[in-house]
Amino acid sequence: MNNLRNLRGTVDLLPDQLIKWQNVEKILLEQLSRASIKEIRTPILEMTELFIRGIGEGTDVVSKEMYTFFDRGERSCTLRPEGTASVARALIQNGMHTNPTQKLWYMGPMFRYERPQAGRQRQFHQLGVEFIGYESVRSDVEIIAFAWDILGKLGIEELNLEINSLGDSNDRLNFQKSFLKWLEINKDLLDLDSQNRINKNPLRILDTKNIQTKKILESAPKLFNFLSKKSLERYSELKNQLESLKIPFKENLNLVRGLDYYTHTAFEITSGALGSQSTVCGGGRYDNLIKQMGGKDTPAIGFAIGLERLILLAGKELDNERRTDVYIINQGLLAEPFAINLSRKLRDYDLLVELDLSGASFSKQFKKANKVNSKSIVIIGDQEAANKEFVIRLFDKEISGNEEEVISIESDIKLEKWLNNNLLSK
Ligand code: HAM
Repeated sequence: MNNLRNLRGTVDLLPDQLIKWQNVEKILLEQLSRASIKEIRTPILEMTELFIRGIGEGTDVVSKEMYTFFDRGERSCTLRPEGTASVARALIQNGMHTNPTQKLWYMGPMFRYERPQAGRQRQFHQLGVEFIGYESVRSDVEIIAFAWDILGKLGIEELNLEINSLGDSNDRLNFQKSFLKWLEINKDLLDLDSQNRINKNPLRILDTKNIQTKKILESAPKLFNFLSKKSLERYSELKNQLESLKIPFKENLNLVRGLDYYTHTAFEITSGALGSQSTVCGGGRYDNLIKQMGGKDTPAIGFAIGLERLILLAGKELDNERRTDVYIINQGLLAEPFAINLSRKLRDYDLLVELDLSGASFSKQFKKANKVNSKSIVIIGDQEAANKEFVIRLFDKEISGNEEEVISIESDIKLEKWLNNNLLSK
């Protein structure tokens, strides 16, 4: 008895499910290419230190959720929990001075040891976009608008954009001093999880889900009140520009995000249709990360979309598969090699061709062609193969006429004419 199973929190994506994935990915790739954003691929496995330094030791991701192990050379390795730190490393390592501003994207699996539930997995997929070397508010606006528009292109409605400003590191340091004083006094009133965060990552207490703690936090100092004049101006310019683009947003002064590298703009896009794991897209500015990791002072901003959540939201029309253009029915010693040859020829016309390999009776193969709803069929028996010809027939109830033609394999002109009249122009 075979009881091998996949690991908890990982899933097999089967051919029927992948139709929607591929349709969604196609739209994403088109949008990325139209915005002139270039792909980057970094390894799935990295040195553990990259994420400790990049994401921050006090974050949940680093302290609780990483898949970390020693390889056979006793090096500590981690399956990437996100893509931004890897992109920053790759740019520094590969000499980004040749191209100081870059718009990049990546797509692929990420790993976090979280409790699996609807919309949350241990191996999940992200599309990430990073604008490197861009400082202006306009770059914040372009990237938020881009995220907003790709979700719109996929027909997803009822989305909420939330924004906040986390200020620069100075603003945050000033806030932290005052917040820690407040925490000392109010510690016992907080939930246990928040109490544990006081020494590790006090800022994260701000976006607690605990209702009691939320209430108590109302009297805590607000990060917003510690933003410098410059940070406030920047934030207000962001809001103006989003308004002028008519992108609706809500301010959420408690939005701090779960990774330490953020500065100034932080944003999330959520959907009520997703249940408790409602964030489909999260991102923000990280002006200090690249320098902190050993590179030059380089402002940057980015976001990542969780693809599993995106697939849950994307419309039903993306479930449709491309229809088979030609189904090749064939049987007999001469017919079978002839059929393979013809299938290769037809695929050169960018047609979706399905070759029946069953060797079953003609009537069974007809039934199969009907089942896959092919637009046309080719019929080849030994007699046709001996004559180096085949019968091609339209097989579509909606197209009248259902033209049938006998075509010689050597007559490209006749074949092209038939295809043009019956399939390629439709
Ligand atoms: P993040 O908010 O940690 O940000 O993740 C982004 C998105 O990935 C989430 O909004 C969610 O849709 C999806 N996601 C995260 N964890 C899981 C999970 N366990 N299962 C399913 N989906 C999940 C980042 O990762 C940043 N690197 C984004 C970024 C790029 N910031 C700047 N540049």
